[in-house]
Amino acid sequence: MCGIVGYVGNKEAFPVLIKGLYRMEYRGYDSAGVAIVKENEINIHKCHGRVSDLEEFCKDKDVTGTCGIAHTRWATHGEPNDQNAHPHFSSDKKIALIHNGIIENHLTLKVALEKNGYIFNSETDTEVLIHLIEDVKKNENLPLAEAVRVALSQVVGTYGIIVVSSDEPDTLIVAKKGSPVIIGFGKNEYYVASDGAALIEYTNKVVYLNDEEIAVLTPGNDLQVKTIKNKKVSHYAEKLQLSLEELEKGGYPHFMLKEIYEQPRSIADSMRGRLNLKKDVVSLGGIVEYEDRLLNARRIVIVACGTSYHAGLVGEHLFEDLLRIPVEVEYASEFRYRNPVIYEDDVVIAISQSGETADTLAAIELSKKKGATVLGICNVVGSSIARATDAGSYTHAGPEIGVASTKAFTAQVTVLALMALCLADKKKKIPKKQYVRMVEALEKIPDQVKQILQSDEKVKEIASYIKDHTNALYLGRNYNYPVALEGALKLKEISYIHAEGYPAAEMKHGPIALIDENMPVIVIAVNSATYEKVVSNIQEVKARKGKIISIVTEGDKDVAALSDYVIEIPKTEELFTPILTSIPLQLLAYHAAVMCGRDVDRPRNLAKSVTVE
Ligand code: G6P
Repeated sequence: MCGIVGYVGNKEAFPVLIKGLYRMEYRGYDSAGVAIVKENEINIHKCHGRVSDLEEFCKDKDVTGTCGIAHTRWATHGEPNDQNAHPHFSSDKKIALIHNGIIENHLTLKVALEKNGYIFNSETDTEVLIHLIEDVKKNENLPLAEAVRVALSQVVGTYGIIVVSSDEPDTLIVAKKGSPVIIGFGKNEYYVASDGAALIEYTNKVVYLNDEEIAVLTPGNDLQVKTIKNKKVSHYAEKLQLSLEELEKGGYPHFMLKEIYEQPRSIADSMRGRLNLKKDVVSLGGIVEYEDRLLNARRIVIVACGTSYHAGLVGEHLFEDLLRIPVEVEYASEFRYRNPVIYEDDVVIAISQSGETADTLAAIELSKKKGATVLGICNVVGSSIARATDAGSYTHAGPEIGVASTKAFTAQVTVLALMALCLADKKKKIPKKQYVRMVEALEKIPDQVKQILQSDEKVKEIASYIKDHTNALYLGRNYNYPVALEGALKLKEISYIHAEGYPAAEMKHGPIALIDENMPVIVIAVNSATYEKVVSNIQEVKARKGKIISIVTEGDKDVAALSDYVIEIPKTEELFTPILTSIPLQLLAYHAAVMCGRDVDRPRNLAKSVTVE
């Protein structure tokens, strides 16, 4: 949440900063702002709204200068308005700062700073940082970088900050704790951002700053990094693994639609090099060293948030079915605060698309402290979670820009399926014949997804029915109960139509009271061990005049006969059906949202990378 970007070098900073903000807008879009250092003064321009509003706002303003910082905000403290937008100014207007994170002791610091005469112009937690830095700098007569370091040692919370000063017009000062910061190297120039997406156009040579580190970036000088405790640190540049093409819409009206349509490829990429059909071998290089720990685990605990949590729920079925190891799946935000029992022989698997979710990171730290082995399933290479875990497997889905997660979910389920299959084979838990059948079924999934995408027109027709409703109920059982949750999440997050996911049989313990002729009920009724039971659940809805939209296996007659709308998926093993059944539900949410006139890629109040708890 919140994107920060900085540039210092020989180019005009403004175009670099604006482009960077556009690329990071998925991190928050409540307000945007820029500060450019010019001839020993700083010009700040900021406004409520999107990056495009800022660009428009700056049209008649002086934005020249070769050193600057910019911010796109997801509001935590203080409503989204001009005043609360970043950058924030010091009272002498000589220092400006942008921040991603939360300063937890901001109230205490504010009281002390107000006593010293500082006047606060915003309701943000961030503003204490700029006054604190100014205060330390003046009282202790320190150079700016030192003042930032000393000030940060008094701060409790998380931060990714960039600071500029009119006294040092060719320097950026950057610090990080809990929020991502990447530094890019150009020729006599430095770039900084929360995310590689803002840098890749200019450089792929980067350094990831670690927590509690502070860096001074002055073109012509080597990168200087210290810890907050004043210890020098050396960093070696890494190659940023990202391509510009992946960050463009490629002719699609929205990133979400592009990402839905990318799934035949992204799922295949998740399997590439891991599924060897000729030898019937499944292997995941990233976790090879930890296979024994997994095989001998007392328990597997999966921690995640949002869509990644739903993928974890599918993982629970996969691991318990194939490995017979008990699995618990927990919202990372609950897990971290409920004093959970964690054994040293537990394996904790953290799932995260962004690899930056604050609650998931905290759950990892807690599990590590208690001695558990912690593995990651992440999409973003080099992300904080990828680096904080003992080992892991990347999903290789490519950058996901649409705020509503789609291809990351199917890639996460694919990796979980590969993991479960590979370990089940090693543990000799499934007969070779069954194993080979499953490997073959998994290999067919990308083509089957392609086939499902051809039902887009039909899904659109269903979306035009759904769009006029205020509620929808999603039902599924076993492997497809998490898909019901995910389908409901997709619809509510981008169309703002209220939707609930429920285990189909639980419906009669409450939600059935909601059913009448105005309630669309989306039922996942594919071939499975509980197929007959789901048919009965559909009858119960039908008896109360609910409208049935069903997802069935091709050739199904029984459910089709009971349904108002039907979408077919190709035949596969029950344990891989979530990858297929989730596709039409993504399309349904997408089209309903478009028909409702929503901003699909940037739904209100949401952000993609939730770096605050
Ligand atoms: C936010 C995003 C969701 C995502 C969740 C977890 O809520 O909008 O799409 O599922 O965070 O994010 P992660 O990056 O950890 O998977």
